[in-house]
Parts: sequence; C-alpha cells; structure tokens
Amino acid sequence: MVQLTHEGPEDLTLTTDRSRPNPGPGEYLIRVGAAGVNFADVMQTRGTYGGGPRAPYVAGFEAAGEIVGVGPDVESPLPLGTHVVGAGPGAFAQYMTMPAAGAIPVPSGWSDAEALGLVLNWATALAALKPLGEIRTGEVVLVHAAAGGVGQAAVRLAHHYGARVIATASPAKHDTVRALGADVVLDSAHPHLAEEIKRLTGGVDLVLESVGRATFEASLSVTKPFTGRVVVFGAASGDATLTTHDLIFTHQVQVKGLHIGALATAAPSLYQALLREIDTLIDQGTYPPGTPRVHPLAEGPAVLRQLEAGQTRGKHALDPWR
Ligand SMILES: NC(=O)c1ccc[n+]([C@@H]2O[C@H](COP(=O)([O-])OP(=O)(O)OC[C@H]3O[C@@H](n4cnc5c(N)ncnc54)[C@H](OP(=O)(O)O)[C@@H]3O)[C@@H](O)[C@H]2O)c1
Repeated sequence: MVQLTHEGPEDLTLTTDRSRPNPGPGEYLIRVGAAGVNFADVMQTRGTYGGGPRAPYVAGFEAAGEIVGVGPDVESPLPLGTHVVGAGPGAFAQYMTMPAAGAIPVPSGWSDAEALGLVLNWATALAALKPLGEIRTGEVVLVHAAAGGVGQAAVRLAHHYGARVIATASPAKHDTVRALGADVVLDSAHPHLAEEIKRLTGGVDLVLESVGRATFEASLSVTKPFTGRVVVFGAASGDATLTTHDLIFTHQVQVKGLHIGALATAAPSLYQALLREIDTLIDQGTYPPGTPRVHPLAEGPAVLRQLEAGQTRGKHALDPWR
C-alpha cells in the first residue's frame, strides 16, 4: 500500500506496480505474514511523525514474517525460514526489508499475527513502566488510552508489577480495560478528570502519557510532586507544552520522554534487558500471544481512519495475502 500524499489515510492506495525490495547491508528480506497497525502509521499519513517517510512511500513499519533473503554483512544471520517480528519500512506489503539487528524470533508456537506488538507495544509499555517509570509494588499508576495497543500491554504489566492501576479510555472500551486488571477505569473525556483522579488516589506515582493535548495538564496535576514521574511517549490528541516556569512553580514532577526506536539505538544494553524481560514475561504467561484483529490489506485505509478517530480497541493487523 502506497501513501500518496500527507492528507491522511484517504490517500493510502493499494498498488501492484512495486517490485520486491532487495535486502541491503545488515538487512533481511521478509515475506510478511502480518503487518501491525500503529498510531504512528496515522501520524505518518499526515506527515506529523518526527523523521517519518515523505510521500509517496510504501506504508507500514511493523511486521512479522518469514526470512526469505539475507543481505550482505549480517552478523550470525538467523536461518532462512525463521519467523521474526520487527520494524522496517514498507510493512504494508507482501515483502519488506528489516534491519536484522532488530528482528526478534517469533515466540515458539506463536503465529506471525500473534507476535505483532512485541517490539512496539510491549517493549514501549515495559520501558515506560520499568527503566523510565521505576514502578514499585503498591504505587498508583495512571495509564491513558488503556484499551489501545500499548495501553492494554501497560495495564497488564502495571497490574503484574503490583501497582494500583487507574486507567482512562472511551466508555465503550471500559469492559476491556477492567478485564485486563485495571482497578479503576475513567472516561478519558471526563470534564473533571484531574479532580476525580485526585479524589480517588490522593496523587499518582507514575503516569503513562500518550494522549498529549487532551490529558497532559491533568496528568501533570495529579502526579505527586517531586517523587512522581510522567513518562511521555505519545500525543494522539495533539501536542501539549510544558514550560520551565510550569516545572518550577506549578508542576514539580519528573517528566521523561520515550521513543522505543531511539532507546534501542541510543541505549542498546537497556533495550536488550527489555527484550530479556519480555522473554521471561512470555514464559510466565504474563504476556500471552496477541489477539489482533486481522484485516485484508485493502482495508488498510479504513483501519487507519478508525484508529485516528479513536474507534479501535486493542491491536489491529493487515494480511497482505488476502
Ligand atoms: N514513543 C514510542 O516509542 C511509541 C511506541 C508505540 C506507540 N506510541 C504512542 O502510544 C500511543 C498508543 O499507540 P497505539 O498504536 O497503541 O494506539 P492506540 O492506543 O491503539 O490508539 C490511540 C488511542 O488514543 C486514544 N485517544 C485519545 N485522544 C485521542 C484523539 N484525539 N484522537 C485519537 N485517539 C485518541 C483513543 O483511545 P480512547 O478512545 O480510549 O481514548 C485511541 O484509541 C500513541 O500516541 C502512539 O503514538 C509511542
């Protein structure tokens, strides 16, 4: 699927005129079994994703599939036929290339679709909670967009690490979030969200902030001064601002930025530790196989439109072979 302009998902188009890419140095060629849909795909269609591709480009950047080719200079390559999950350009296609260094074998017994989310949703949620968020048992953790791809992983993990989980989501999605272990679920559009959270908790130790403009002020104001942390990794409702004046006089909280790709590049040992922890979580059953809703590739524009409008819950995927 090729994104033709930066006018949004409307201009994402199915095409048959692109040839199979060749793996460059350090890359695998992947026969895509399932491509993951992420909020970043929506941002890319509008040209608002930092460092994102310029139109026209083959859309999608997360996939799981089979290694069918190996480029030059891949150190200790996995055997052809191994199924991996990872990120690389042009995932909404039957074949794509992927940096070999970031390709993780699909967990044993899992399908390609079930493995989607490992490097984006789960690694992001885990990074936000543990190395950055420094979550401790008994703490209060606030997770926004809790029914979403990252949000669901975050709720499960925060509950697993012994936190009291306060979640926000649209009302129609509250049953999903409760079933994952959230203690309290609030409407993300509650007119007095901050007051309600303060009334229920007395103050929050850690906020996973991915909504931006619509929730950022509430997130800052419910966070405990000095000890509280706000990990910012998304802005689905648009950008919000925070000034030095705010940090000194109004919100004396610890604000930490997260981009999982940047973390993998800039702090590789931290990233490897996250992947080891994910293995353990899978072995324990805390991280079960994913259950994405899989759509034919041609439905990509509709799925992105729904994601943009906040109408999805959980993970969605595209199958390029149907
Ligand atoms: N920094 C990183 O490395 C990284 C990695 C992965 C994801 N992310 C970010 O994490 C967030 C979640 O990503 P995801 O792919 O899992 O998406 P998602 O959570 O499945 O979808 C986004 C959700 O955000 C909520 N939302 C609140 N205000 C919204 C608005 N104005 N417009 C649209 N949605 C709104 C909606 O949930 P409700 O209807 O329940 O409010 C919507 O379903 C995104 O902000 C994404 O960019 C960042």
